[in-house]
Amino acid sequence: MTQGRLTGTVAVITGASSGIGEATAHALAREGSTVVLLARRLDRLSEVVEAIESDGGQARAREVDVTDAAAVAEVVGDVGEEFGCIDILVNNAGFLANGPALEADLDEWHRMVDVNVTGVLNTTHAALPLVTAAVGRARGVADIVTVSSLAGRRVPTPESNVYSATKHAVTAFSEAIRRELVPRRVRVGLVEPGVVRSEMTTGGGKGAPDATHGDPLVAEDIADAILYIVTRPDHAAVGEIVIRPSEQER
Ligand SMILES: NC(=O)c1ccc[n+]([C@@H]2O[C@H](COP(=O)([O-])OP(=O)(O)OC[C@H]3O[C@@H](n4cnc5c(N)ncnc54)[C@H](OP(=O)(O)O)[C@@H]3O)[C@@H](O)[C@H]2O)c1
Repeated sequence: MTQGRLTGTVAVITGASSGIGEATAHALAREGSTVVLLARRLDRLSEVVEAIESDGGQARAREVDVTDAAAVAEVVGDVGEEFGCIDILVNNAGFLANGPALEADLDEWHRMVDVNVTGVLNTTHAALPLVTAAVGRARGVADIVTVSSLAGRRVPTPESNVYSATKHAVTAFSEAIRRELVPRRVRVGLVEPGVVRSEMTTGGGKGAPDATHGDPLVAEDIADAILYIVTRPDHAAVGEIVIRPSEQER
C-alpha cells in the first residue's frame, strides 16, 4: 500500500462489525492506519479484516462487549502490548430502542445506557493512557472521536427518551475531556449524524427512523467525517461535525 495520511498510526474502532464502524475501519485503513476492530460478532469482524487486508490494509479483530469493563481493559491492554500506543480511538458502538416511556422495557433503557454511555466510558478509560502515549510518535497529536447523534443535541421525538439522553451524556463527557486533554495535544471530537442507513435503521433498532426508503445518509458519509477530523494538520482540532441527509429538516 502507498503512503497514506495515517501511515504509522494505530486506530481502535468500537462497533466495527457493521454500519458506520465498518465503513470507518475501511476509511482509516485505506489511509494507512492499522485498525483494531472491536465488537461482539467476531465472524463479521473477521470478514471486515479480510476485506481490509485484501485491499492492502492492516487490521485486527477482537471480540468484546463494550459494556464489560474488564474485557475492554484486557483487549485495550493487548493493543498496548502490541503497539505501545493508540493514535486514534473511535467510540462508535451503539444501541437504540425507542418507544413511549409508559410502555418501556426497563432492560432496554439500561441496555442503551450500558452500551451508549458506559461503553464509551469503559473504552475511553482503558485507552486514555495509550492515546496520550501516541502524541509525538507518528504524529504530534492523537484523536478521540465519538459518534453521538443529532439526538445528542436535541430530543428528536418523545420516543427517543433514553437514546437521546445517552447521546446528550456522551456529548457532555466528550466536551469535558476535550478541554482537559488540550494541554496533552489529544484532540477530542464528536460526529452527530442524522438518519444513516445501517442495521440500526433498517430493522435492527426498535422504533428507529426508517432508512429503508428515501435518501438517507450512508455509513461512508459518516466515515468521511471521521476521516476529515483525524487527518487535520496538527494545529487544527475539529470539535464537532453535524451531518444530516439533505432532505432532513431537523
Ligand atoms: N444509523 C443512524 O441513523 C445513526 C444516527 C446517529 C448516530 N448513530 C450512531 O452511530 C453508531 C453506529 O451505529 P450504526 O448506525 O452503524 O448501526 P449498526 O450497524 O447497528 O452498528 C452498531 C455497532 O455497534 C456494535 N455494538 C452494539 N452493542 C455492542 C456491545 N455491547 N459491545 C460492542 N459492540 C456493540 C455492533 O456490533 P456487534 O453487534 O457485533 O457487537 C455494531 O457494530 C451508534 O453509536 C449509533 O447510535 C446512528
